[in-house]
Amino acid sequence: MDKLIIRGGRRLKGEVTISGAKNAALPIMAASLLSSGYSTIHKVPNLRDIMTMGRLLANLGAGFHYEEQKAIINTEKIKIFEAPYDLVRTMRASILVLGPLLAKFGCAKVSLPGGCAIGARPINLHLMGLEKMGADVKLESGYVIARAKRLRGASIYFDMPTVTGTENLMMAATLARGTTFLENAAREPEVADFASALISMGARIKGAGESIIEIEGVDELRPMNYSIIPDRIEAGTFMTIAGITGSDITLKECRIEHLDALIMKLRDAGLLFEKREEGLRVLGPAKLKSTNIKTMPYPGFPTDMQAQFMALMSVADGTSIIKETIFENRFMHVAELMRMGADIVVEGGISTVKGISKLKGAPLMATDLRASASLVVAALAAKGETEIRRIYHLDRGYEKMEEKLRKIGADVKRVNE
Ligand code: EPU
Repeated sequence: MDKLIIRGGRRLKGEVTISGAKNAALPIMAASLLSSGYSTIHKVPNLRDIMTMGRLLANLGAGFHYEEQKAIINTEKIKIFEAPYDLVRTMRASILVLGPLLAKFGCAKVSLPGGCAIGARPINLHLMGLEKMGADVKLESGYVIARAKRLRGASIYFDMPTVTGTENLMMAATLARGTTFLENAAREPEVADFASALISMGARIKGAGESIIEIEGVDELRPMNYSIIPDRIEAGTFMTIAGITGSDITLKECRIEHLDALIMKLRDAGLLFEKREEGLRVLGPAKLKSTNIKTMPYPGFPTDMQAQFMALMSVADGTSIIKETIFENRFMHVAELMRMGADIVVEGGISTVKGISKLKGAPLMATDLRASASLVVAALAAKGETEIRRIYHLDRGYEKMEEKLRKIGADVKRVNE
């Protein structure tokens, strides 16, 4: 297992190129199942989760080839309609094959993902929607088994916006008979990008990126040739790195329109942003100011940035209240930040962070993807050396993190234990 060793306290300077968005690439790869033939997807980051999705598709009978940010998927010979527990337990996004398998082949057997480090994360809304579209859905021995001759359009209301739930039902609806309306749908930029990929396959979709999405079913879809958007969470993570180290980092391939809530909060914390031809220049202040955040579905403050923002607030001037409303257990990073000296009290879904003057390096353990990113953010500003174990969590969602950091002057080493 690899670990990262970071010596903090350096000012960083230079350019970082943001990779393609993991959470857009995963559903877009799953959507290739809706057509028969070769789909080519560009700007796909080289990440563990992407390779897991590739293995899952290959398990179904697809050809999967990945090279230089390009995924080529051949869906001509799909013959198995099952996502086994062994793959699903390593990546919850495997649930994204449920909608397309059912819509295209009339049956799907997908392991229930179970809980995870950040919360229970049920999939009841995915299943409710498929049932409304006429599927027969059963739960047997830890698996969801769904069948339908042909799904039919339906009006579906989500009790809360769900990203992969919206994507699963959009895929199901593209090949259904009639029109589907998804209400209170997720509005994340990844959902809008995913809809553009489906439209490029011939799907009829209106309103993606808004809370009501209308999908008119068609008889068949063609393979895609599609390029995905840059990862807003990777960009946001580098912004917090610039903030906590008082650095000057220019982000290339960054879509600021996807980062409004975060940028506003980072401005309140004292960061400066300059739009330039070569990218977005982010300047960290000499001293950070505390500010409160509350995570919300998009366009609210992203839960995927909460941990990194907390690392930033742990050394800000004053007290910051951080409220997590999306996942009930997404404060696993708190105990690790406290091992570095942070002053944080958690009660229910609220963390109270009293800024201290300096974090100190310590041996740490990564618990999930964004928690590990927050430990990297903290370590880069800490005095002395920090060792972060279980870095495989980071590798699920950040492409070449330590290379990108080293290029701008950070002292980061990956060591194989
Ligand atoms: N929920 C339900 N029932 C459902 C579905 C969701 O109650 O059937 C609840 C969840 O428990 C949660 C809320 O709805 O409280 C929102 O969850 P959502 O379904 O939107 O999450 P997700 O689709 O499983 C995606 C991202 C996550 C990101 C969340 C929220 C992908 C592959 N994953 O998960 O990304 O945190 O949306 O924005 O798109 C990450 O990249 O680190 C990550 C965890």
